[in-house]
Amino acid sequence: MSRKLVVGNWKMNLTLDQSKDLIQELANNVPFHAYVVIAAPVAYLHPLKDFIVGKRNIHLAAQNVHHEEFGAFTGELSAPMLASLGIEYCIVGHSERRIHFKEKNEVLAQKVTQLLNHNITPIYCVGESLEQREKGKTFDVIKKQLKEGLFHLTSEQIEQVIIAYEPIWAIGTGKNATPEQAEEVHAFIRKYIANKYDEDVADEIPLLYGGSVTTQNAQSLFEKPSIDGGLVGGSSLKSEDFIQVIKANFP
Ligand code: 13P
Repeated sequence: MSRKLVVGNWKMNLTLDQSKDLIQELANNVPFHAYVVIAAPVAYLHPLKDFIVGKRNIHLAAQNVHHEEFGAFTGELSAPMLASLGIEYCIVGHSERRIHFKEKNEVLAQKVTQLLNHNITPIYCVGESLEQREKGKTFDVIKKQLKEGLFHLTSEQIEQVIIAYEPIWAIGTGKNATPEQAEEVHAFIRKYIANKYDEDVADEIPLLYGGSVTTQNAQSLFEKPSIDGGLVGGSSLKSEDFIQVIKANFP
């Protein structure tokens, strides 16, 4: 099966009407063979699930999930709740959650398990800060995030996961990793997973790049052999831009 996809992470943006307009534009304009996932604000998931019926290229993700199945956690949302809405994907461990909400690998590991238990595909994010990169610690940081967040899974389970490499210094800064920098880390991730599991398992896992993906740089990033697609923030909020980014991965 193809590993290619493009995920739009809308973060805390757009009204429900704007969301529907954007999805309609995508459905009308992206190629037949494209595979697009929209990580929409959680309040919109139910209405958007109804709205995408018949729009076969478009799928939905949540941006976060709680690590427990149910209970006294006011304001939170669990994996079985997402499953009951028919949501197929969920981002886990975005750097904005790691930084602003102090989410640690151990809790993220529980979130991943919760999602897999409910047949939702986790999109697990990893990535280093500028300081870590400048100190030559990029691979150590990524290794720790992979080991502590994912390596409790069986081969059958980890094959169901999508991994997104999002260097923190590239997110929302307009300064993307070069295709060579991203490819180097992606190839490292695939090899590290192959060493822990095996090559067949590693080959199943889509690896997305995220961080200032634009209409200008998308094609040169997606062309790289270890980059299967993008996790796109700012450029997923305008239909003209996002359609071009998607087309770059589905020519
Ligand atoms: P930008 O594309 O706005 O840099 O955001 C990337 C991101 O965080 C996607 O999850």
